[in-house]
Amino acid sequence: MKVYEGITFDDVLIVPKISNVLSRKETDTSTNLTDKIKLSIPIISANMDTVTESAMAITMARLGGVGVIHRFNTIEEQVNEVKKVKRKQGVIISDPYTVSPEDTLSKVKELAAEKGVTGFPVVIGSKLVGIITKRDYILEGDMTKKVKELMTKDPVVADENITINKAKSILKKNKIEKLLLVDKEGRLKGMITAKDISINEADGGISKDKKGRLIVGAAIGIVGDYKERADKLVEAEADFIVVDVANGYLTKVADVVKYLKKNYGIEVIAGNVATKEGAINLARAGADAVKVGIGPGGACLTRSVAGVGYPQLSAIMECSVAGIRIIADGGITKSADLAKAIAGGADAVMIGSLLSGTDESPGKIVAKENKNYKIYRGMASISAYADKVMKQNELLDIEGYTPEGTEMLVEYKGSAIKIINNLVNGLKSAMTYVNAKNLNEFRKNVEFVRLTESGKKESKYV
Ligand code: XMP
Repeated sequence: MKVYEGITFDDVLIVPKISNVLSRKETDTSTNLTDKIKLSIPIISANMDTVTESAMAITMARLGGVGVIHRFNTIEEQVNEVKKVKRKQGVIISDPYTVSPEDTLSKVKELAAEKGVTGFPVVIGSKLVGIITKRDYILEGDMTKKVKELMTKDPVVADENITINKAKSILKKNKIEKLLLVDKEGRLKGMITAKDISINEADGGISKDKKGRLIVGAAIGIVGDYKERADKLVEAEADFIVVDVANGYLTKVADVVKYLKKNYGIEVIAGNVATKEGAINLARAGADAVKVGIGPGGACLTRSVAGVGYPQLSAIMECSVAGIRIIADGGITKSADLAKAIAGGADAVMIGSLLSGTDESPGKIVAKENKNYKIYRGMASISAYADKVMKQNELLDIEGYTPEGTEMLVEYKGSAIKIINNLVNGLKSAMTYVNAKNLNEFRKNVEFVRLTESGKKESKYV
């Protein structure tokens, strides 16, 4: 029997080289997630229910990465999260959420919380009759008041075909935040917000689709409602689908990839695998990228339960020669791991635990002994299993379920923005050490040196 040797991030260091790259500012961290999807930072937030819903996906895309909305919810909930991202920053929101003049303030507030927006056009049928924004209701305490009593009548409107520049000057002149677009009959056709215009202009690094909207991915499984889920996600214009299965070697995973490519032609990322054979198998099925990682994740128990896995850096290096783009999924605990994953051949990394416990991650903050926490859990943990079973009204069989994931309290970390920036700065620093201005040069120039036990101690890895 063949016994392989494998290494992971803390087993190596990147060897410094003579370099002309004087500062991090000279480096470019852009990458292709798939042929059609370009990112300016090689980071994806994980499709886990304690990591990525719309808030995380919006922040990720605004920073130049992308988020993948998890699938541990109803189809409707997942689609709603995708839609929230797609609506967020497109300069023209073509189908804004609306309220009716007869709605109560309590309904408006509910909708605002659910949809993550604060202002609504007021319509009767499709006819625009007003607008209600935060400043109309922020000081109002009477929740039974009707929209018609609070709204601004005769809002500023423009033709549905207005240019962004023209819209900008109208917003400026009228000192308003939202411009409503109507057709000749006064029917609501869209909305442009000042904030979205300024974000759009501020940074070329934002991950955007062809219509200027934020990019977002969404996960599906390979059993149950996966076909309907895929259908609805494609309809909601998710930019790519992640076929999310712990064991990407199952032949059904390749079958689902083929099904998606044939029926929708959408970009598909599939996984997880950890060897060249597994990556080639999914590439042949038509996947545009594969997720690499069996068991390195912060909440993973697969290795101790099944004894299956492959040390993550070796997995990345082996899969990177399979002729398909690689997303290194799991085990990134610091910026050095990101740098080594990319150096080892990954096109991007997927991150779970590092991004958990943040403002953008789903879930409430819990206080314990004067400290604040959020929950982070593996998707094969007992509690994730129990939630899933209960949502589907199935019989809960805790005794018969052996979890391959754990759950934990993660100290509340504030915004994910700081974490992403630190990760990217670490990667950029590594690039300056090996004379690399971009990630291709970085991969070409990097050599690793293997650490001894005392080398690990010296590097503060143990
Ligand atoms: P990190 O290390 O960033 O890893 O937290 C995130 C990745 O972990 C995987 N994942 C799991 N693996 N059991 C596992 O063995 C689980 O319950 C589980 N949940 C998530 C997944 O690939 C994720 O992106």
